[in-house]
Amino acid sequence: MRTQVAIIGAGPAGLMLSHLLARDGIMSIVLESRTRQAIEETIRAGVLEQGTVDLLHELKLADRMEQIGERHGGIEFRFRGRGHRIPMRDLTGGNEVMIYAQHEVIKDLVAARVQQGGEIVFGVSDVQLHDLDTDRPRVSFRRSPEAPTEFIACDFIAGCDGFHGPSRSSIPENVRTEYHKTFPMGWLGILVEAPPSSEELIYCNHDRGFALVSTRSPEVQRMYIQVDAQDDIANWPDERIWSELRSRLATEDGWAPIEGPIIQKSIVGMRSFVCSPMQYGRLFLAGDAAHIVPPTGAKGLNLAVSDARVLAAAIGEFYQDSRTDLLARYSQICLRRVWKAERFSNFMTQLLHRFPEHSAFDREIQLAELDYMTSSVHGLSTIAENYVGLPIEWGT
Ligand code: FAD
Ligand code: DHB
Repeated sequence: MRTQVAIIGAGPAGLMLSHLLARDGIMSIVLESRTRQAIEETIRAGVLEQGTVDLLHELKLADRMEQIGERHGGIEFRFRGRGHRIPMRDLTGGNEVMIYAQHEVIKDLVAARVQQGGEIVFGVSDVQLHDLDTDRPRVSFRRSPEAPTEFIACDFIAGCDGFHGPSRSSIPENVRTEYHKTFPMGWLGILVEAPPSSEELIYCNHDRGFALVSTRSPEVQRMYIQVDAQDDIANWPDERIWSELRSRLATEDGWAPIEGPIIQKSIVGMRSFVCSPMQYGRLFLAGDAAHIVPPTGAKGLNLAVSDARVLAAAIGEFYQDSRTDLLARYSQICLRRVWKAERFSNFMTQLLHRFPEHSAFDREIQLAELDYMTSSVHGLSTIAENYVGLPIEWGT
């Protein structure tokens, strides 16, 4: 097989890249280890930045998002039993976020690619990368564990295979630096059959730990609570989850979440991770393959999309003008935005969670920081600007 760009992974990064390349007339093949059904059913993120929303419009992939998604112009921070609204739309000259589940984005991107005749091979195994430091790299794979090995010859390989995929480790250890931070807490996330408890997302700091109220539709809600990173979901019967949500989210004026049957629950760990550089020879990493953020800033999916944008522009420039300037600067352009998202996600995580090592002094400082951030126009603006999404900076 031969193509221009071999894309490993059909997550937001890989699928968005295949669409952006197709728009410029550049061929790609996407290799995905899971089934189409599995990727369309995995419950993950839910917040799309303004730039992600705009890009989906530009690519004419926004119809279902506009039907099912919800635009939010503000979020609430809740602490000491009181809510404080952050009016993002007003503070950013009209920017908003869209609450639209990641697996719905995946469904839209896959359906449109398949309809356009784009090639996505699902259920592949044994994906390996070869000849990265030549201008004819190759990817080998099997269509099933028993099938023979096939090769794709290409000009570029996009490693969009998430944190555990094989791409990153194909960059020799002596040319990459990895930055890690693991948090001592995890998020227990639930999907609930109930009407929305709130018109906007609520990020809540409480003595018992963080809680988040989000939404999926008028009928299904998404909520999270901070738990220990090592905790087991078996320790969390539904009533215990509701009891924590009620305690943490309670306000002076008697607010309580609307309860209903819990239809899905799981615990995810929280880490920060950056691999630098994000490229080696003809291999370019995008999304979780190169970086992870803790979910508090709602940035993971959005970073995957902005990497795909930069990579598509760089590859587009190569084919159109035979230039490699943007390709050479790919990592540098992406990492500038990645580190700012790491910074914001770290800041939100520190601001909103309870940390086992915090002293009474640290706790008061955290509450004072929340008070400052929600009462100063500068504090409010900095949160708003980062939450709706920073621009990509293309210059040097
Ligand atoms: P992925 O979505 O991980 O896609 C990578 C794809 O590559 C996958 O489909 C995988 O099957 C495929 N792949 C892996 N290995 C191979 C291989 N060997 N061969 C072929 N294909 C391969 N972010 C938020 O902002 N908010 C959240 O609430 C949130 N919750 C999350 C919950 C979980 C459990 C996880 C894992 C992540 C969560 N994230 C969240 C992060 C967000 O979902 C990711 O940042 C986003 O999915 C990154 O997109 P991606 O395309 O880079 O990677
Ligand atoms: C959701 C996830 C996040 O990580 C976040 O910060 C806000 C909302 C969600 O799944 O809806």
